[in-house]
Amino acid sequence: MTASIATAHGAAHTAILGIGSYRPSRVVSNDEICRHIDSSDEWIRTRSGIIERRFAEPHETVQLMSVEASRTAIERAGIAAAQIDCVIVATVSHLMQTPAVAPLISEELGATPAAAFDISAACSGFCHGVGMGSDMVRCGTAKYVLVIGVERLSDITDPTDRGTAFIFADGAGAVVVGPADVEGIGPMVWGADGSKFDLIRQNETWIDVLNMEHAEMPTLRMDGNPVFRWASYEMAKIANEALDRAGLTVDDLDVFVPHQANMRIIDAMARALKLPDDVVIARDISHQGNTSAASIPLAANALLESGEAKSGDTALFIAFGAGLSYAAQVVTLP
Ligand code: COA
Repeated sequence: MTASIATAHGAAHTAILGIGSYRPSRVVSNDEICRHIDSSDEWIRTRSGIIERRFAEPHETVQLMSVEASRTAIERAGIAAAQIDCVIVATVSHLMQTPAVAPLISEELGATPAAAFDISAACSGFCHGVGMGSDMVRCGTAKYVLVIGVERLSDITDPTDRGTAFIFADGAGAVVVGPADVEGIGPMVWGADGSKFDLIRQNETWIDVLNMEHAEMPTLRMDGNPVFRWASYEMAKIANEALDRAGLTVDDLDVFVPHQANMRIIDAMARALKLPDDVVIARDISHQGNTSAASIPLAANALLESGEAKSGDTALFIAFGAGLSYAAQVVTLP
Protein backbone atom coordinates (compact mmCIF):
# COMPACT_ATOMS: atom_id res chain seq x y z
CA MET A 1 0.00 0.00 0.00
CA THR A 2 1.26 3.49 -0.83
CA ALA A 3 2.21 5.38 2.32
CA SER A 4 0.05 8.40 3.07
CA ILE A 5 2.24 11.49 3.10
CA ALA A 6 1.10 14.36 5.31
CA THR A 7 0.12 17.59 3.57
CA ALA A 8 1.98 20.75 4.54
CA HIS A 9 -0.14 23.57 5.93
CA GLY A 10 0.95 27.14 6.33
CA ALA A 11 -0.47 30.58 6.98
CA ALA A 12 -3.81 31.57 5.45
CA HIS A 13 -2.44 35.02 4.63
CA THR A 14 1.01 36.53 4.10
CA ALA A 15 2.46 40.03 4.13
CA ILE A 16 5.65 42.03 3.93
CA LEU A 17 6.40 42.61 7.61
CA GLY A 18 9.47 44.84 7.35
CA ILE A 19 11.60 46.58 4.73
CA GLY A 20 15.12 48.01 4.67
CA SER A 21 17.59 49.30 2.11
CA TYR A 22 21.21 50.28 1.66
CA ARG A 23 22.46 53.04 -0.64
CA PRO A 24 26.19 53.12 -1.33
CA SER A 25 27.92 56.30 -0.22
CA ARG A 26 29.52 57.41 -3.51
CA VAL A 27 27.30 59.65 -5.66
CA VAL A 28 28.24 59.55 -9.35
CA SER A 29 27.11 62.44 -11.55
CA ASN A 30 26.22 62.28 -15.24
CA ASP A 31 29.25 64.46 -15.93
CA GLU A 32 31.50 61.82 -14.38
CA ILE A 33 29.88 59.12 -16.57
CA CYS A 34 30.38 61.34 -19.65
CA ARG A 35 34.14 61.36 -19.11
CA HIS A 36 34.15 57.87 -20.67
CA ILE A 37 31.32 58.02 -23.24
CA ASP A 38 30.25 60.46 -25.94
CA SER A 39 27.11 61.75 -24.20
CA SER A 40 25.88 64.65 -22.07
CA ASP A 41 24.14 65.32 -18.78
CA GLU A 42 21.21 66.71 -20.76
CA TRP A 43 20.88 63.60 -23.00
CA ILE A 44 21.01 61.23 -20.04
CA ARG A 45 18.44 63.24 -18.04
CA THR A 46 16.07 63.54 -20.99
CA ARG A 47 16.34 59.96 -22.28
CA SER A 48 16.49 58.10 -18.97
CA GLY A 49 15.50 60.50 -16.17
CA ILE A 50 18.75 59.74 -14.35
CA ILE A 51 20.37 62.74 -12.66
CA GLU A 52 22.88 60.79 -10.57
CA ARG A 53 23.43 57.28 -9.27
CA ARG A 54 25.37 55.49 -6.51
CA PHE A 55 28.40 53.25 -7.04
CA ALA A 56 29.62 51.01 -4.23
CA GLU A 57 33.10 51.58 -2.78
CA PRO A 58 35.33 48.48 -2.53
CA HIS A 59 34.23 47.75 1.05
CA GLU A 60 30.53 48.00 0.12
CA THR A 61 30.30 44.42 -1.04
CA VAL A 62 27.16 42.52 -2.08
CA GLN A 63 27.31 40.88 1.35
CA LEU A 64 27.74 44.12 3.31
CA MET A 65 24.95 45.97 1.49
CA SER A 66 22.62 42.97 1.91
CA VAL A 67 23.34 42.59 5.61
CA GLU A 68 22.75 46.31 6.27
CA ALA A 69 19.44 46.34 4.37
CA SER A 70 18.35 43.08 6.02
CA ARG A 71 19.11 44.22 9.59
CA THR A 72 16.70 47.12 9.14
CA ALA A 73 14.04 44.91 7.55
CA ILE A 74 14.31 42.29 10.32
CA GLU A 75 14.19 44.89 13.09
CA ARG A 76 11.14 46.57 11.53
CA ALA A 77 9.45 43.17 11.17
CA GLY A 78 9.82 42.76 14.92
CA ILE A 79 11.38 39.31 14.73
CA ALA A 80 14.80 37.90 15.58
CA ALA A 81 17.13 36.85 12.75
CA ALA A 82 17.13 33.33 14.21
CA GLN A 83 13.41 33.03 13.38
CA ILE A 84 14.06 33.28 9.63
CA ASP A 85 13.61 29.96 7.84
CA CYS A 86 14.76 30.94 4.37
CA VAL A 87 16.99 33.60 2.82
CA ILE A 88 16.46 34.33 -0.88
CA VAL A 89 18.95 36.64 -2.56
CA ALA A 90 18.06 38.01 -5.99
CA THR A 91 21.24 39.17 -7.70
CA VAL A 92 23.31 38.90 -10.88
CA SER A 93 26.41 40.53 -9.43
CA HIS A 94 27.67 38.07 -6.81
CA LEU A 95 30.72 37.26 -8.89
CA MET A 96 31.33 33.72 -7.74
CA GLN A 97 29.71 30.82 -9.57
CA THR A 98 29.24 28.83 -6.39
CA PRO A 99 28.41 28.89 -3.53
CA ALA A 100 25.60 31.43 -3.54
CA VAL A 101 26.04 34.57 -1.42
CA ALA A 102 22.83 33.84 0.56
CA PRO A 103 24.42 31.41 3.08
CA LEU A 104 27.14 33.98 3.85
CA ILE A 105 24.54 36.68 4.48
CA SER A 106 22.43 34.31 6.54
CA GLU A 107 25.46 33.39 8.66
CA GLU A 108 26.41 37.01 9.30
CA LEU A 109 22.84 37.88 10.26
CA GLY A 110 22.57 34.91 12.63
CA ALA A 111 19.73 33.41 10.59
CA THR A 112 21.31 29.95 10.41
CA PRO A 113 20.29 27.21 9.76
CA ALA A 114 17.82 28.92 7.42
CA ALA A 115 17.74 27.60 3.87
CA ALA A 116 19.70 30.10 1.78
CA PHE A 117 20.07 30.42 -1.96
CA ASP A 118 20.40 32.96 -4.79
CA ILE A 119 18.06 33.42 -7.71
CA SER A 120 19.11 34.77 -11.10
CA ALA A 121 16.17 36.58 -12.64
CA ALA A 122 17.94 39.92 -13.16
CA CYS A 123 15.77 42.99 -12.61
CA SER A 124 12.68 40.92 -11.87
CA GLY A 125 14.45 38.78 -9.24
CA PHE A 126 13.15 40.64 -6.20
CA CYS A 127 9.49 40.25 -7.23
CA HIS A 128 10.15 36.55 -7.97
CA GLY A 129 11.56 36.27 -4.43
CA VAL A 130 8.58 37.98 -2.79
CA GLY A 131 6.17 35.66 -4.64
CA MET A 132 8.17 32.54 -3.81
CA GLY A 133 8.60 33.61 -0.18
CA SER A 134 4.88 34.25 0.15
CA ASP A 135 4.07 30.83 -1.33
CA MET A 136 6.51 29.16 1.09
CA VAL A 137 4.83 30.80 4.08
CA ARG A 138 1.42 29.84 2.70
CA CYS A 139 2.51 26.22 2.24
CA GLY A 140 4.20 25.93 5.62
CA THR A 141 7.68 25.44 4.18
CA ALA A 142 8.78 28.53 6.11
CA LYS A 143 7.31 30.93 8.64
CA TYR A 144 9.57 33.90 7.87
CA VAL A 145 11.42 34.44 4.61
CA LEU A 146 14.04 37.15 4.08
CA VAL A 147 14.04 38.36 0.47
CA ILE A 148 16.96 40.50 -0.65
CA GLY A 149 17.53 42.31 -3.96
CA VAL A 150 21.15 43.42 -4.27
CA GLU A 151 23.49 44.50 -7.05
CA ARG A 152 26.99 45.87 -7.62
CA LEU A 153 26.38 46.43 -11.32
CA SER A 154 29.32 48.86 -11.48
CA ASP A 155 31.54 45.74 -11.36
CA ILE A 156 30.01 44.34 -14.55
CA THR A 157 29.28 47.55 -16.46
CA ASP A 158 31.71 48.78 -19.11
CA PRO A 159 32.21 52.50 -18.39
CA THR A 160 32.97 53.05 -22.10
CA ASP A 161 29.76 51.37 -23.36
CA ARG A 162 27.40 54.13 -24.47
CA GLY A 163 24.32 51.89 -24.20
CA THR A 164 24.66 50.95 -20.52
CA ALA A 165 27.31 53.05 -18.72
CA PHE A 166 24.83 55.74 -17.62
CA ILE A 167 22.06 53.36 -16.56
CA PHE A 168 23.31 50.75 -14.12
CA ALA A 169 24.12 51.34 -10.44
CA ASP A 170 24.52 49.68 -7.05
CA GLY A 171 22.47 49.14 -3.88
CA ALA A 172 20.41 46.70 -1.83
CA GLY A 173 16.91 46.30 -0.47
CA ALA A 174 15.37 43.61 1.73
CA VAL A 175 11.99 42.56 3.07
CA VAL A 176 10.74 40.00 5.57
CA VAL A 177 7.77 37.99 4.31
CA GLY A 178 5.69 36.23 6.95
CA PRO A 179 2.21 35.25 8.16
CA ALA A 180 -0.49 37.91 8.49
CA ASP A 181 -4.10 38.26 9.71
CA VAL A 182 -5.30 39.68 6.40
CA GLU A 183 -3.94 39.28 2.88
CA GLY A 184 -0.89 41.45 2.24
CA ILE A 185 0.63 39.84 -0.86
CA GLY A 186 -1.50 39.21 -3.93
CA PRO A 187 -0.96 36.41 -6.46
CA MET A 188 2.24 36.81 -8.48
CA VAL A 189 2.02 37.10 -12.26
CA TRP A 190 5.34 36.06 -13.73
CA GLY A 191 6.95 34.80 -16.91
CA ALA A 192 9.83 34.95 -19.34
CA ASP A 193 10.36 35.38 -23.08
CA GLY A 194 13.52 33.52 -24.04
CA SER A 195 13.19 34.62 -27.67
CA LYS A 196 14.50 37.97 -26.38
CA PHE A 197 17.41 36.38 -24.47
CA ASP A 198 20.02 38.42 -26.35
CA LEU A 199 18.55 41.86 -25.69
CA ILE A 200 20.22 42.24 -22.27
CA ARG A 201 23.13 39.95 -21.54
CA GLN A 202 26.68 39.46 -20.40
CA ASN A 203 28.77 40.13 -23.54
CA GLU A 204 30.86 36.92 -23.24
CA THR A 205 30.39 33.63 -21.40
CA TRP A 206 32.97 32.78 -18.71
CA ILE A 207 34.34 30.00 -20.94
CA ASP A 208 34.73 32.37 -23.92
CA VAL A 209 36.57 34.82 -21.70
CA LEU A 210 38.98 32.13 -20.48
CA ASN A 211 39.77 31.19 -24.08
CA MET A 212 40.64 34.78 -25.02
CA GLU A 213 44.24 35.81 -25.46
CA HIS A 214 43.68 38.90 -23.31
CA ALA A 215 40.96 37.90 -20.88
CA GLU A 216 38.74 40.77 -19.76
CA MET A 217 35.96 40.90 -17.22
CA PRO A 218 32.66 40.24 -19.05
CA THR A 219 30.28 43.20 -18.93
CA LEU A 220 26.60 43.84 -19.63
CA ARG A 221 25.28 44.79 -23.04
CA MET A 222 21.76 45.94 -23.79
CA ASP A 223 19.82 46.56 -26.98
CA GLY A 224 18.00 49.41 -25.26
CA ASN A 225 15.38 50.40 -27.79
CA PRO A 226 13.58 47.03 -28.22
CA VAL A 227 13.71 46.57 -24.43
CA PHE A 228 12.22 50.03 -24.04
CA ARG A 229 9.34 49.24 -26.44
CA TRP A 230 8.70 45.81 -24.88
CA ALA A 231 8.66 47.23 -21.35
CA SER A 232 6.48 50.22 -22.22
CA TYR A 233 3.75 48.18 -23.97
CA GLU A 234 3.85 44.60 -22.67
CA MET A 235 4.45 45.31 -18.99
CA ALA A 236 1.30 47.38 -18.52
CA LYS A 237 -0.65 44.23 -19.47
CA ILE A 238 1.20 42.24 -16.79
CA ALA A 239 0.52 44.98 -14.24
CA ASN A 240 -3.19 44.86 -15.10
CA GLU A 241 -3.17 41.07 -14.73
CA ALA A 242 -1.60 41.35 -11.26
CA LEU A 243 -4.35 43.81 -10.28
CA ASP A 244 -7.04 41.47 -11.70
CA ARG A 245 -5.64 38.47 -9.86
CA ALA A 246 -5.63 40.48 -6.63
CA GLY A 247 -9.29 41.37 -7.27
CA LEU A 248 -8.48 45.09 -7.47
CA THR A 249 -8.44 47.95 -9.96
CA VAL A 250 -6.18 50.98 -10.29
CA ASP A 251 -8.69 52.89 -8.16
CA ASP A 252 -7.70 50.71 -5.20
CA LEU A 253 -4.02 51.60 -5.54
CA ASP A 254 -2.18 54.09 -3.34
CA VAL A 255 1.30 53.50 -4.71
CA PHE A 256 2.91 52.27 -7.96
CA VAL A 257 6.44 50.90 -7.66
CA PRO A 258 7.67 49.76 -11.08
CA HIS A 259 11.22 48.59 -11.71
CA GLN A 260 13.37 51.70 -11.96
CA ALA A 261 14.69 51.16 -15.50
CA ASN A 262 13.93 54.43 -17.24
CA MET A 263 11.73 57.39 -16.24
CA ARG A 264 10.07 57.35 -19.67
CA ILE A 265 9.08 53.69 -19.21
CA ILE A 266 7.62 54.56 -15.79
CA ASP A 267 5.59 57.39 -17.37
CA ALA A 268 4.46 55.20 -20.29
CA MET A 269 3.27 52.48 -17.92
CA ALA A 270 1.45 54.96 -15.69
CA ARG A 271 -0.35 56.33 -18.78
CA ALA A 272 -1.19 52.85 -20.13
CA LEU A 273 -2.58 51.81 -16.74
CA LYS A 274 -4.57 55.07 -16.48
CA LEU A 275 -3.38 55.53 -12.90
CA PRO A 276 -5.50 58.05 -10.98
CA ASP A 277 -3.63 61.30 -10.22
CA ASP A 278 -3.44 60.58 -6.50
CA VAL A 279 -1.46 57.33 -6.93
CA VAL A 280 2.09 57.93 -5.71
CA ILE A 281 4.60 56.80 -8.35
CA ALA A 282 8.12 55.73 -7.36
CA ARG A 283 10.71 57.74 -9.29
CA ASP A 284 13.81 56.69 -7.40
CA ILE A 285 15.71 56.21 -10.67
CA SER A 286 16.48 59.95 -10.81
CA HIS A 287 18.99 59.69 -7.97
CA GLN A 288 19.66 55.97 -7.78
CA GLY A 289 19.95 54.79 -11.40
CA ASN A 290 18.89 51.28 -12.41
CA THR A 291 19.90 48.90 -9.61
CA SER A 292 18.26 45.83 -11.18
CA ALA A 293 17.06 43.43 -8.44
CA ALA A 294 17.48 46.12 -5.77
CA SER A 295 15.41 48.81 -7.46
CA ILE A 296 11.92 47.98 -6.16
CA PRO A 297 12.74 47.60 -2.45
CA LEU A 298 15.02 50.67 -2.64
CA ALA A 299 12.24 52.71 -4.27
CA ALA A 300 9.49 51.44 -1.94
CA ASN A 301 11.56 52.09 1.17
CA ALA A 302 12.43 55.59 -0.06
CA LEU A 303 8.72 56.43 -0.40
CA LEU A 304 8.02 55.09 3.11
CA GLU A 305 10.95 56.93 4.69
CA SER A 306 10.07 60.22 2.99
CA GLY A 307 6.42 59.92 4.07
CA GLU A 308 5.13 59.96 0.46
CA ALA A 309 3.77 56.45 1.13
CA LYS A 310 2.66 55.01 4.44
CA SER A 311 2.34 51.67 6.14
CA GLY A 312 -0.89 49.96 5.05
CA ASP A 313 -0.87 51.52 1.58
CA THR A 314 -1.75 49.23 -1.32
CA ALA A 315 1.12 49.10 -3.82
CA LEU A 316 1.64 47.48 -7.20
CA PHE A 317 5.13 46.07 -7.78
CA ILE A 318 6.19 45.23 -11.33
CA ALA A 319 9.69 44.26 -12.40
CA PHE A 320 11.19 43.27 -15.77
CA GLY A 321 14.59 42.75 -17.29
CA ALA A 322 17.12 40.29 -18.70
CA GLY A 323 15.72 36.98 -19.85
CA LEU A 324 13.54 38.74 -20.72
CA SER A 325 11.79 37.99 -17.46
CA TYR A 326 9.09 39.71 -15.45
CA ALA A 327 7.05 39.44 -12.24
CA ALA A 328 4.37 41.55 -10.60
CA GLN A 329 2.18 41.49 -7.50
CA VAL A 330 0.02 43.78 -5.39
CA VAL A 331 1.22 44.18 -1.80
CA THR A 332 0.34 46.07 1.33
CA LEU A 333 3.31 48.23 2.33
CA PRO A 334 4.71 47.38 5.79
N1 COA B 1 24.48 59.41 -25.19
C1 COA B 1 24.11 60.17 -26.24
N2 COA B 1 23.48 59.67 -27.32
C2 COA B 1 23.23 58.35 -27.29
C3 COA B 1 23.59 57.50 -26.24
C4 COA B 1 24.25 58.09 -25.16
N3 COA B 1 24.64 57.38 -24.09
N4 COA B 1 23.20 56.26 -26.52
C5 COA B 1 22.59 56.30 -27.72
N5 COA B 1 22.63 57.55 -28.20
C6 COA B 1 22.06 58.06 -29.45
C7 COA B 1 22.00 57.00 -30.52
O1 COA B 1 23.22 56.93 -31.22
C8 COA B 1 20.87 57.51 -31.38
O2 COA B 1 21.37 58.53 -32.21
P1 COA B 1 20.80 58.76 -33.73
O3 COA B 1 19.34 59.10 -33.52
O4 COA B 1 21.61 59.88 -34.23
O5 COA B 1 21.01 57.44 -34.42
C9 COA B 1 19.91 58.17 -30.40
O6 COA B 1 20.71 58.45 -29.23
C10 COA B 1 18.74 57.31 -30.02
O7 COA B 1 19.21 56.01 -29.65
P2 COA B 1 18.25 54.94 -29.00
O8 COA B 1 19.02 53.73 -28.66
O9 COA B 1 17.06 54.80 -29.91
O10 COA B 1 17.82 55.71 -27.67
P3 COA B 1 16.58 55.46 -26.74
O11 COA B 1 15.65 56.60 -26.83
O12 COA B 1 16.01 54.08 -26.92
O13 COA B 1 17.24 55.56 -25.29
C11 COA B 1 17.92 54.01 -23.57
C12 COA B 1 18.26 54.66 -24.93
C13 COA B 1 18.97 53.01 -23.22
C14 COA B 1 17.87 55.14 -22.54
C15 COA B 1 16.53 53.36 -23.66
O14 COA B 1 16.46 52.55 -24.82
C16 COA B 1 16.18 52.51 -22.48
O15 COA B 1 16.05 52.99 -21.38
N6 COA B 1 15.94 51.22 -22.71
C17 COA B 1 15.43 50.31 -21.73
C18 COA B 1 16.33 50.10 -20.59
C19 COA B 1 15.66 49.15 -19.66
O16 COA B 1 14.49 49.24 -19.43
N7 COA B 1 16.32 48.22 -19.13
C20 COA B 1 15.57 47.31 -18.32
C21 COA B 1 16.25 46.15 -18.07
S1 COA B 1 17.53 46.42 -16.94
